[in-house]
Amino acid sequence: MTDDVTIPLHVVVLAAGKGTRMRSRLPKVLQRLGGRPLIAHVLQRARALEPRSITVVVGHEADRVIQTTDADDLRFVEQAVQNGTGHAVALALADQDPSERVVVLYGDVPLIPESDIKACLDAGAGLVILGAEVPDPTGYGRLVEHPPGHLERIVEERDADEAIRQIRRINTGILCAAAGDLQRWLAAGEAEANQRQGEWYLTDVVAAARAERQPVALVLSSLPEAVLGVNDRSQLAQQERQYQRARADDCLRDGLALADPARFDLRGELVFGQDCQVDANVILEGMVRLGDGVRIGPGCRLRDVTVGDDAVIDAYSLLESCEIGSGCRVGPFARLRPGARLEAGARVGNFVEMKNATLGPDAKANHLTYLGDATVGARSNIGAGTITCNYDGVNKHFTRIGADAFIGSNAALVAPVAVGDGATIGAGTVLTRDAPPGKLTLTRSPQETRPDWERPRKAPHPAKD
Ligand code: UD1
Ligand code: CA
Repeated sequence: MTDDVTIPLHVVVLAAGKGTRMRSRLPKVLQRLGGRPLIAHVLQRARALEPRSITVVVGHEADRVIQTTDADDLRFVEQAVQNGTGHAVALALADQDPSERVVVLYGDVPLIPESDIKACLDAGAGLVILGAEVPDPTGYGRLVEHPPGHLERIVEERDADEAIRQIRRINTGILCAAAGDLQRWLAAGEAEANQRQGEWYLTDVVAAARAERQPVALVLSSLPEAVLGVNDRSQLAQQERQYQRARADDCLRDGLALADPARFDLRGELVFGQDCQVDANVILEGMVRLGDGVRIGPGCRLRDVTVGDDAVIDAYSLLESCEIGSGCRVGPFARLRPGARLEAGARVGNFVEMKNATLGPDAKANHLTYLGDATVGARSNIGAGTITCNYDGVNKHFTRIGADAFIGSNAALVAPVAVGDGATIGAGTVLTRDAPPGKLTLTRSPQETRPDWERPRKAPHPAKD
């Protein structure tokens, strides 16, 4: 490649198809991989090329696709009827400057390595096609080379005879060429499609370029398993596994101790310090930040969570939009909902739910508790079964518990209510008014024992004759 770098680059992303084989109400390019729509992965790659412009061809559920992807750097072109990939690219290039270079990316090929696209751009010839050699070419367009090494044409599987079906070199869908050339070759393809009365294939540009004796270069993918398309749920699941395995390998390389990289799901972004350990079947979503020495037990799900140094999140805990201070312990079986905050050294045990609530430093709620719309001061202990009654059926109310308080088991704190510093609340109390600091407060009906009570007995069965 020589002076091509100076030619402005334009990327076309094809995203108009329905994705019938997914059998879903969701348009295919909006199906999720690694927690993001397929098309978001493709657009990420498009942007990495730093093109002058990006056109996205939308059609099926266009509004929904536009809404999900909308950004200032994208131009959307609508393909009202999906007549084929050739038609889609022709629409996208309708008023394109013919001197520009164009890269076509398919919205359903999400994991295409950037290095493969760059290799195509560097190949420099008139038309460059990215192919891949795969063990099972079923469903893909086959690359017909004649003589070997010279791409002659691409034959779609449905049009292929038995000999062509044996070819294991497939079309990935990714190609690049000058806009003007593509426009001309596509027009030739349209004529052919009309003759055939069939779909207008983008892949016919190969034969058209060859007919003009233009150079056609074939670049083979460096990572064939990554350039496979997502047409059905099985392929989506395969790509997801592959994506997750790559994420796990990135994490391992950066020093995260993963118990089993095959049972790890990162559906967002993870930042971690040194010596963090993640046990099997942990799912991380959104933005997750772990300090140093954090341990996460098996089966936990964390979404948008920050965890401080040396904290432990024990097995099967669910955490969402919350903040865990250093040295905290959470779980097993804890549920921390949005707005839960644990300050340094706080502990939350099994079957404890928190929502919009703060546990102060070294405070504890170790068993079977609901803390909603509440603050708990430093070192306070929340006994098993304590409930903040924050909802009166209409409004939410707040509970304030001071420092060094002791809430006896099974207390119901009827908000709005406050418990002073150092206060003790007797077990089983239904607290409806503020409890003063340093004192024991309790509500309790007197215990009684009835000396003359007898447990009723069943009458004996009458004897049968
Ligand atoms: C296509 C290629 C095939 C290649 C395979 C790689 C053609 C004719 N065939 O087949 O050679 O091996 O991809 O994955 O190109 N789309 C539109 N408008 C349309 C039709 C499709 O925008 O009218 C979009 C789809 O949304 C999708 C992409 O183009 O993102 C590919 O379409 P799809 O129908 O999946 O093509 P394949 O049959 O997979
Ligand atoms: Ca496809």
